[in-house]
Formats: sequence, C-alpha cells, structure tokens
Amino acid sequence: MTTERGDYVLGTHGEEVRRLGIQHRVWRRCARAAWRRAGLRPGWRVVDVGAGPGWATWDLAEAVGPHGAVLAVERAGQFLPVLEAERRRRGLEQVTTRDADLMESAPPGGHDMAWCRWVASFVTSVPTLVRWVHGALRPGGTAVFHEYADYGSWRFAPPRPRLAEFVAAVMESWRAAGGEPDVAPALVGALAREGFRLRSVRPLVFAARPGGRTWQWPASFVETNAERLLGLGRVSPDWAAEVVAELKAAEADPASVMVTPLVLEVIAERL
Ligand SMILES: C[S@@+](CC[C@H](N)C(=O)[O-])C[C@H]1O[C@@H](n2cnc3c(N)ncnc32)[C@H](O)[C@@H]1O
Repeated sequence: MTTERGDYVLGTHGEEVRRLGIQHRVWRRCARAAWRRAGLRPGWRVVDVGAGPGWATWDLAEAVGPHGAVLAVERAGQFLPVLEAERRRRGLEQVTTRDADLMESAPPGGHDMAWCRWVASFVTSVPTLVRWVHGALRPGGTAVFHEYADYGSWRFAPPRPRLAEFVAAVMESWRAAGGEPDVAPALVGALAREGFRLRSVRPLVFAARPGGRTWQWPASFVETNAERLLGLGRVSPDWAAEVVAELKAAEADPASVMVTPLVLEVIAERL
C-alpha cells in the first residue's frame, strides 16, 4: 500500500529506518525463536519478504552463514539503497536485494524459508501475498509470519484517552491506504486455501513498563507516527502535540503499563 510512488503509509524517512531498528531490537529474540522453531540452519536459502531497511536481514544472514543465501525483497523509496549500502558495509556476500512489488511481481522460487514480519497489514491483497510466498518456497519449505491480530488491544494502564485515539487513528490510516491492521486471521485462512499446512500459531504480547527496553518500541512508534499522521493531513497539530504529551506523562508515571498490540506468530509449511 502506498501513499506516493515507492513509499508506504509509515514512510521511509531516516526516522522510520531508526524506529524499525528499535522495533527489531525489541523483537529480535522472538524472531530468532521463531526461526529456530522453523528449523533455520546454516546453508539455507531464505527470503526476507518486505525487508524494510534490513534489520532482520542481517540476523538471517548470520544464521544461514556464508554458504547460505538471504534475498531481501523490498520496493520502498529509501529502504533499498539503505539495504544495499549496509550490505556492502557489512561485507555480506550471502545477501542480495531485489526491488519488487509483492502484489505484482513473480517470486523467485526454491527458498527453504520465508520470513515476513509486519508486511501483511500493508498489502492490498493477503491472498496475493500468500501466493507470492508459496511461489518463493520449495515444496516442504517453511513460511514464518509475525503479523498483527488485534491492533486495538494496544492499551495503557492507567487509561490514556489521547493515546487510545491515536491507536484508532493509526488503524484508520492503514485502512484508508488499502491495508488492514488486524490481518492475522485473514492470513491464517489464506494459508489454508493457498497450499500451506499450519505448523504452529502463537500469540506474542508484551506488558511494557516505562524505562524498560520494550517500552521504547511502541513509544518510538507514537512519536514518529503522531508526526506522520500530521504530515498526511489526518490530524491537527494540537492533537498530535497532546498525544506526545500524554506519552511523556505515561513515561513519567512509574505505575504505567503498556500492553502491546497482539501479534500472531504463524509457521506454515508449503505443501
Ligand atoms: C512495517 S515495515 C516492516 C519491515 C520489516 N519486515 C521489519 O520487520 O522490520 C513494512 C514493509 O513492507 C513493505 N511492503 C509493503 N507492501 C509491499 C509490497 N507490495 N511490495 C514490497 N514491499 C512491501 C514496506 O515497504 C515496508 O518496508
């Protein structure tokens, strides 16, 4: 889903690259655990579907080693040059990048595993995405998804009314651009219809506290995206400032708890 050619609804600016890095550092342990469950090992050929600026790509490259291969597929504005520059800087010969739209391109086949995180919410057709992943895998290959199941489950205790409005505004903006925040149930259905056998499904959720590392992930999302919603003309400057002020108030209150939006881990085998 795009807001302008080659961009996506959350943007591809430097702040978004940084935010995705914070997000990956919080989620890295869950990602690696999922890859272990999928059987990832040195020598595998993996496709990173909608890789963004490549934060997971580098960990996948380390997991497959110099005799494996990671193909990072992405189509967005500044992410591809970031991926390429970082690949060269790290000297990772096993990583290649491909500029492709998952909704339109033919997938390169034969991969042992596909990793797809927070992409399904942003595409215009989940069955098309699932068919793309099917085509990218060898028979018996494994698809691993981390996708939102219930975005509105993102909650603050004590309640924070502006932040609750912010969650609703984010969901509206994704839907307005053709995506769906609560995409995981549709994904599970599409996998069953498009030639996959479900191997495991598990919920992933954090209860974050101010000052903790996990808090930084949703907090950085609020800061970047209050600004983003303003830039898209969807909210007023006063409202965006109040959202950020409420986040700061929550951060300053040691009694605050933030329950993060429910993510579903889905591991499925290509038949
Ligand atoms: C929230 S980011 C997640 C990036 C990365 N998977 C991660 O976990 O850090 C969503 C990514 O999906 C990409 N994306 C969305 N729709 C796409 C499409 N149709 N084709 C290729 N990439 C797409 C966006 O460009 C963006 O990089």
